[in-house]
Amino acid sequence: MKQRTLAILKPDCIEAKVTGKVLDKILAAGFQIAGMKLVRMDEETAGAFYAVHRERPFYRDLVNFMSSSQCIPMVLEKEDAVEDFRKLIGGTDPAEAADATIRKEFASSKQNNIVHGSDSPENAEVEIGFFFSDAELISTG
Ligand code: CMP
Repeated sequence: MKQRTLAILKPDCIEAKVTGKVLDKILAAGFQIAGMKLVRMDEETAGAFYAVHRERPFYRDLVNFMSSSQCIPMVLEKEDAVEDFRKLIGGTDPAEAADATIRKEFASSKQNNIVHGSDSPENAEVEIGFFFSDAELISTG
């Protein structure tokens, strides 16, 4: 049974022009794309997406970063998509991320870490709904 997760290619991914390379890794790992769009979040939208981190010291900088340029949110499908995508991207801090993970290869800091992935199936559903309506998603079967 396939599961869905929300991924976001962050502004640093697009600015570094590694969108294609990151997508290649995602597809090679067996994820299928059920939805994808290019967005430019304003501060209010980025703040709402990361509202769970509102009290954290990095929140304001995170909101500024995520609203600084375009992002590419996408819905990915695969068995165990949430857990497997977190493994594929690696830990938040690229310095501590496992070898061969996307963040280890491409990320430059804890904040500028190239890609977001939902941390639970429940949060994935909420985060998918933040960016996509049902009509914008095409199930990959
Ligand atoms: P993400 O997986 O999108 O979830 C929350 C984001 O907050 C995280 O990736 C980073 O971009 C950012 N973040 C988390 N921890 C820190 C930190 N200690 N310092 C700066 N940014 C952080």
